[in-house]
Amino acid sequence: MSIQFNEQTRTFHLFNDSISYIMTVLPNHHMGQLYFGRRIHHRDDFSYLLEMSPRPMTSCLFEGDRSFSLEHTKQEYGVYGTTDYRRPAVEVLQKNGSRLSDFCYQSHTVTAGKPRLEGLPATYTEEDHEAETLTLRLEDPVTGVVLKLLYTIFEKGGILARSARLENQGREAVHLTTAMSLCLDLPDCDYEWLQFSGAWARERHLKVRRLEQGIQAVESLRGNSSHQHNPFIVLKRPCADEFQGEVMGFSLVYSGNFLAQAEVDTHDTTRVLLGISPMGFDWKLEPGESFQTPEAVTVYSDKGLNGMSQTFHRLYRKRLARGCWRDRPRPILINNWEATYFDFTEDRLVEIAAKAKESGVELFVLDDGWFGKRSSDHAGLGDWVANPRRLAGGITGLARRIEDMGMKFGLWFEPEMVNKDSDLYRAHPDWILETPGRSASHGRNQYVLDFSRKEVVDCIYGMMAKILEEAKVSYIKWDMNRSITECYSRALPADRQGEVFHRYILGVYDLYERLTSRFPQVLFESCASGGGRFDPGILYYAPQGWASDDSDAVERLKIQYGTSYCYPLSSIGSHVSVAPNHQVFRSTPLKTRANVACFGTFGYELDLNRLSPKEQDMVREQIAFMKEYRELLQFGTFYRLASPFEGNITCWMVVSEDQTQAVVGWYRVLSGVNMPYTRVRLQGLNPDFCYRNQETGALHYGDELMNLGLITSDGQSGQMDGAGEGYGDFMSRLYVLKRDTSR
Ligand code: GLA
Repeated sequence: MSIQFNEQTRTFHLFNDSISYIMTVLPNHHMGQLYFGRRIHHRDDFSYLLEMSPRPMTSCLFEGDRSFSLEHTKQEYGVYGTTDYRRPAVEVLQKNGSRLSDFCYQSHTVTAGKPRLEGLPATYTEEDHEAETLTLRLEDPVTGVVLKLLYTIFEKGGILARSARLENQGREAVHLTTAMSLCLDLPDCDYEWLQFSGAWARERHLKVRRLEQGIQAVESLRGNSSHQHNPFIVLKRPCADEFQGEVMGFSLVYSGNFLAQAEVDTHDTTRVLLGISPMGFDWKLEPGESFQTPEAVTVYSDKGLNGMSQTFHRLYRKRLARGCWRDRPRPILINNWEATYFDFTEDRLVEIAAKAKESGVELFVLDDGWFGKRSSDHAGLGDWVANPRRLAGGITGLARRIEDMGMKFGLWFEPEMVNKDSDLYRAHPDWILETPGRSASHGRNQYVLDFSRKEVVDCIYGMMAKILEEAKVSYIKWDMNRSITECYSRALPADRQGEVFHRYILGVYDLYERLTSRFPQVLFESCASGGGRFDPGILYYAPQGWASDDSDAVERLKIQYGTSYCYPLSSIGSHVSVAPNHQVFRSTPLKTRANVACFGTFGYELDLNRLSPKEQDMVREQIAFMKEYRELLQFGTFYRLASPFEGNITCWMVVSEDQTQAVVGWYRVLSGVNMPYTRVRLQGLNPDFCYRNQETGALHYGDELMNLGLITSDGQSGQMDGAGEGYGDFMSRLYVLKRDTSR
């Protein structure tokens, strides 16, 4: 890895074993983009990449240079209003009403490792040799605003992390109305755009379309990264697929309002923008103040989508997630929500836990309903004190009972919310986000606390910390069940209301930071009505997240497949729930429910007492299987093989780093009759290793399995005598392959 600067040509070349990133100082001293892609040889002069030809009838040009217009120039951090007509990376509103700025290169520094971003989640290094960071210092001479562009290139893999910092070193206050984390101008538009979108209970479905002249974008304006869109997009060459070809992924380490956009201009160049959504954003910078954007992570892969995802998985698993749970296989849990909803007593909980313990479950999680006056979703949020009518010995007592059974105890919170029917609201009615003189909308009968205010965060921290200090709590499910409306903070002046959305998220990060550092042993799982805030920002604090409230095995194929494009399996919260399923009312085999959930953190969301003895035996086997293979499943190299977005069959697999073990998950949604013979070509095995199929005992070389494929035909003929258990709709199989060294 290296960062080279050529003084004569004023060109920067950042490169490692996989990628090159090249930029230069333009004739007007702005920064220009020259190349991002596969690693190329270093040269002193890349100026030939700066293409400037006069286009007088269409463009506005700089005086004295008929060939130079920003409209035709690939830039690092574009500004609107002076010859460039594309959407900008930055906009600074000044006292005289002007929004122009002219960020000119002044100097740069190169440092080993990666600096922390104050108050924000970001990827990190543990040793200085793991990365190098280039900081470009640019200044707008009129306002005195300094722009620092940070580029971190990691030692290995196609990873480039970027962010921007704006410092007002001038004499007058300015307003930042746009400050993106990343702006990347690419020389052509021959790409397909992939986004991961959906709705509550239908999160992160893959959507693909061809880039065309104009703007394509996904955005969240809801205060959370959202069920609807994810702060992650991919550009891939049309000929690239899961296994080969050029792909670039863009991921924002942020949990609030975002914009991810690609603008194809009149000459077919593509500008990618990623950062906080400019809609409603207005950050006042007094002289001496500064603003740090969130981090954007770009991954380039010439090994297709799987190659890109594997790079994100490694990075986010090892250098974004933190704490003692980062590298630990996750406990198998049981959560009472779908088993009881609000209707439980302490004894009933213990009954559920006891049966789960008998089956091998390690962690019992008490979900919503244990605090304040909470017996429905109308009351109680904000009062984080156990309801003595439900839990006579409080959380301490219940946690002790669970611990005494030899299980760990976990607890649900929804720290950012309040019901009007709560002691907290009665004491502090002005602590919610609401606009004076306007009605406040509720979501699920709840209101959003103003987390931009430190005293609010302090108060919630106090209540949570008290419980964690008193009771033996090993896990927290941190929920967030509505988006923000009427966003307005009573604690901020009129000209700072455009800061509230971002300040809110900074408050959430602050609470997470305080709790995770004070209680480092606690495993945090994030949740936002399922997957409404499943993003890298939260992953920095909570190494796993409840991927969706939809726990149906068939629905989960798409949700987990889509989620896996960016996020590692160790982060994907996935449970076996009851049949018929509570969201879609579909009955799927217990086996299939577990076969889907085991490609994730794994747990149960039902009362095992209600299962038949035969099903209970199956659960015991599932848990034993998960315990044996969870390290491989959660930390192995993951490959998508057949997509639920394309057909009836879904297939994915994980391979251990040393390639001696693999687990393949194969799922068929609808059954057929007299079906073709089928195979699936595996990936990532060692071609020369001989693998034994643990179920059938069959031996195959890696090259057979990867080229001829694994035979998955089931021989079902449609005759009743050919069909048995395990046939029919929603059928699945796991194939465990282990290297056989006798060969
Ligand atoms: C949200 C979560 C669920 C559950 C309920 C409790 O919907 O996503 O898993 O915790 O809240 O109210």
